[in-house]
Amino acid sequence: MPAPLVGPPTRKPCSEGEYDRPMPITTVGVVGSGIMGTGIAEVAAAAGYRVVARGRTPQSAESVLAGVRRSLDRQVERGKRTEAERDEILGRITVTTELKDLAQADLVIESVVEDLAVKLELFEELDSLCQPATILATNTSTLPVVDIGMVTGRPQQVCGIHFFNPAPAMSLVEVVRPLTASQETISAAVEFARSCGKEPVVVEDRAGFIVNALLFPYLNNAVHLLERGVATKEDIDAAMVGGCGFPMGPFALLDLVGLDTSVAILEALYAEHREPQCAPAPLLRRMVAAGHLGRKSGRGFYDYQRA
Ligand code: CAA
Repeated sequence: MPAPLVGPPTRKPCSEGEYDRPMPITTVGVVGSGIMGTGIAEVAAAAGYRVVARGRTPQSAESVLAGVRRSLDRQVERGKRTEAERDEILGRITVTTELKDLAQADLVIESVVEDLAVKLELFEELDSLCQPATILATNTSTLPVVDIGMVTGRPQQVCGIHFFNPAPAMSLVEVVRPLTASQETISAAVEFARSCGKEPVVVEDRAGFIVNALLFPYLNNAVHLLERGVATKEDIDAAMVGGCGFPMGPFALLDLVGLDTSVAILEALYAEHREPQCAPAPLLRRMVAAGHLGRKSGRGFYDYQRA
């Protein structure tokens, strides 16, 4: 008798019991005021955590609060939340320009620019001012988490907690385990992600982890197709939505992620694996040089009305 056909497993990633080790987390520090930092602040505050979000300037710090408010206002308009819930969530977020205001955080999630030198300096500073028990996490998409851990005096308490854009809408979180992280740290990160209503997966510390290692060669290839004149960007996007059931095509997604971030991710993938498909397509670099960064700059492959 032929073996019965078996489909993909239906169990949720990270089955119960496998990573149980809740550590009390009440205050979450978020460093970085961009799309991801803002989204992570919203997710954590909505899950009931007190959030201290740090931007480098008063304007960037305030932009976190403004971004979360815009997102929550949309949810109120759609009937997903009440005004009282919105106000409660906003009330749990404080913003600051001072890194030292994160000293009381039980977990800090860094989401600054994808530049290893910047992150290393930041983690050294966080290590010196945070409580000894605090877990320091990075939202990096591709950079080696072990390098980040090793500049601190607590490499066993450093891991990746990688959210996806838009963080409030995407259910996945990649918990990245560098060689140096303890099981307690990974368990606490998994538990934190679950408590935020996310579905965590645990992944080893290799450039691109799971999603970006698979996604970015595809996105880069789409740019190559466009450069070769195989089809228009609109038709390539329509093909991947209509033919593969993706929620958005590659150019719409590149614009969402940001072309500068995309180039940084591809460069990190290329640096680690040396696979030609990961070398950023020339057009991507030119667009970044021109300041066409996608939605965040109002123009990428498509034009966006600035709010
Ligand atoms: N904040 C909060 N919620 C949002 C949101 C945002 N910025 N954008 C969309 N949503 C929510 C909406 O409120 C809506 O929720 P409900 O159904 O509960 O009302 C839901 O998402 C769907 O939104 P819309 O109907 O407005 O629009 P849509 O159906 O086109 O979905 C999308 C928008 C969620 C962005 C969807 O197009 C999508 O899933 N796109 C793919 C995004 C993706 O692949 N992200 C990963 C990028 S790679 C990455 O992030 C990794 C990295 O390291 C760079």
